[in-house]
Amino acid sequence: MIDIKISKVSNSRHGEVDFSNLVFGKEFSDHMFIADYDGKEWKNFRIQPYGPIPLSPSLSCMHYGQAIFEGMKAYRAIDNTIQIFRPYDNFKRMNESAERMCMQPVPEEVFIEGLKALCRMDSNWIPSNEGSALYLRPFLIATDDFLGIHPSSNYMFMIYGCSVGAYYNKPLKIKVETEFVRAVKGGVGEAKTAGNYASAMYATHIAEKEGFHQVLWTDAFEHKYLEELGSSNVFIVSGKTLITPASNGTVLKGVTRDSVIQLAKKYGYTVGERPISIDEVIELDKNGLLDEAFATGTAATVSPICELSYKGVSIHIKPKENSIAAELKSHLENIKRSKEEDVFGWNEKVVMTQTS
Ligand code: COI
Repeated sequence: MIDIKISKVSNSRHGEVDFSNLVFGKEFSDHMFIADYDGKEWKNFRIQPYGPIPLSPSLSCMHYGQAIFEGMKAYRAIDNTIQIFRPYDNFKRMNESAERMCMQPVPEEVFIEGLKALCRMDSNWIPSNEGSALYLRPFLIATDDFLGIHPSSNYMFMIYGCSVGAYYNKPLKIKVETEFVRAVKGGVGEAKTAGNYASAMYATHIAEKEGFHQVLWTDAFEHKYLEELGSSNVFIVSGKTLITPASNGTVLKGVTRDSVIQLAKKYGYTVGERPISIDEVIELDKNGLLDEAFATGTAATVSPICELSYKGVSIHIKPKENSIAAELKSHLENIKRSKEEDVFGWNEKVVMTQTS
C-alpha cells in the first residue's frame, strides 16, 4: 500500500458543471494524483487540486517526446458503487509503452492505488447517466532537466479525471488515408505515445476540412491494408463475421477492441483478427455483403461508421436498427454499470472507505 498525501481543493468546481450535458474533454475533476521517480525510487505520492504544474523549459519530454498515456473510464454502477473498467489491462499496456519508449515503468500499486484514490476523492464527478463516465487519464513524462538525447532518469506519473459524455454523436464519415502514414513495422505504432497523436494531426486536419470525421490509416508500404481508425480501432462486419486488423506492431492493442472481440465470440459471432485490404472491403460492398463498420475505443466506445471514402469514391453503409455494433455496445455498457453480469471479471470495484 502506498502512502498518499492529500491536499483538497478549497473551492470545488462541481457545482458549475452540467452533468446531464457533458462535452467530451472539458470538465476536469477537482483533483489529480502525482508520483515522482528520481532515478532510484517512486516517491512523493500525492493528491492535490487539479491545475498547472511548474515545468522547466529543458524538460526532456517536451523536446524528445518521452511521453506516454492511457485512457480508461470509471462508472457508477446501478447500485451506486464505483468501478473502473479493466484498469489492469491499461496498466499492462502503459508499461509496454514505457518499455518501447525507454521509460521507467510504473509499479502496479502506484498505478492502481492512484486511480482508486482519485476516484474516491472525486467520486461525485462520476456521473450516473447513460453514456457518461469519469474518463481517467494516467500519463508518464520524462522530467530530466538536461539538453541532450538520452533516456531520462527522472519521471513524473500523473492521473487526472474528466467527466465525459459521448466522444462521437453521429455515425462516422471516414477517409481511407492513402498519402500519409501513422505507423510502420518496427516503429512505435503499438505504443500509446504522444508523438503518434501529433503525427496523425496533419492528415486528420485535411480529412476534416474535406468533411470527414476521421482517417482510417492504411499500411505504410502499399496503402492497401487497414490499420487504425484515428484514435480508435476498426471492425468490418459481414453477416455473422467480424473482422479487425491484427495487432502486429503498428496497431494499438485497444482494450475496447479486445472487449468487443470477447463479447462478439460469446454472442455467437465469428471474429477474425487478420490483414484486411481495402479491396476486400470494396468487394464485400459490391456483392452486398458489407453490413456494418464501426470504431472501438475508450473514448469512442462502439461508434458506427456510415461512410468510407477511398481515393474520392465513397462506400455508404446504411445505419441499421438492430446492428451488431449496437448489440455489442449495449452489452458492454450494461456490464460497465453492472446491469449485466460481468462474466469476464472486467470491473474493478473502488471501495470507498479506504483512506488512501
Ligand atoms: C481513448 O480512447 O482513450 C483515447 O486515448 C483517444 C482520445 C481521443 C481520447
